[in-house]
Amino acid sequence: MIEVENITYSYGDGTKALDNVSVTFPEEHIFAVTGMSGSGKTTLLNCLARFLRPQSGAIRLNGTEIGGMDEAAFRAGVGVVFQRLNLFPHLTVLENLSLAPVRLGRGAKKGILCEAGEMLERLGIPELAGHYPAQISGGQAQRVAIARGLMLKPGVMLLDEPTSALDAKTSQEFSVWLRELKSDTGFVIVTHDLAFAGETASRGIFMEGGRIVKSGPIRAVLSHIDGGLSA
Ligand SMILES: Nc1ncnc2c1ncn2[C@@H]1O[C@H](COP(=O)(O)OP(=O)(O)OP(=O)(O)O)[C@@H](O)[C@H]1O
Ligand SMILES: [Mg+2]
Repeated sequence: MIEVENITYSYGDGTKALDNVSVTFPEEHIFAVTGMSGSGKTTLLNCLARFLRPQSGAIRLNGTEIGGMDEAAFRAGVGVVFQRLNLFPHLTVLENLSLAPVRLGRGAKKGILCEAGEMLERLGIPELAGHYPAQISGGQAQRVAIARGLMLKPGVMLLDEPTSALDAKTSQEFSVWLRELKSDTGFVIVTHDLAFAGETASRGIFMEGGRIVKSGPIRAVLSHIDGGLSA
């Protein structure tokens, strides 16, 4: 579980991107962080991922302030899939999945390759194992990037704009896939794609000008926006 308490983040030029934001992300949900362009979504994600440090407030992972955690413990708890997926082009899908666990000493290479194969099987994409990133589609690459993140078994995985490079049909398939995915990992999805958020998440927040203006079950969050826009 990640608890965010009253965080504020301003960039060097004085832009206040997060203004006293508080939100709790439970692990067992798909949680959507929505809002129009410039509302502070990516800044929030970067604070959760510890790439940015808020000037005030606290972020706790299972009760521990993340600023004080050592790198290995933090990265084991929180995974990140960037908008640009950063799959290694010279490695096959199976090798992409194995790289981090091998480097982090999570086991013998042979065993980890075997686990990677099982992960692809479990996520319904075993046929991609031997492909290189250039040989798979955008939707498949998004799934592979998530499979790679799940290899480290994080409690929470952060996804930044996962559908930005996908067409409507592929986004919808991805949404179904994500909802049906059997995993103990909770997902926090940053997206301006409200249709995708509504289909995929159970709870969410809507941000405006660095503040959370609505939070709760995703339907309620989105109906608030629809109401607001049509009013
Ligand atoms: N590196 C930066 N330096 C200064 N201001 C920034 C920087 N990055 C973002 N901002 C500003 O901070 C605010 C929040 O930006 P952020 O990228 O978090 O929004 P966002 O909700 O992710 O938007 P989008 O949907 O366009 O990705 C905006 O006003 C933006 O212009
Ligand atoms: Mg963004």
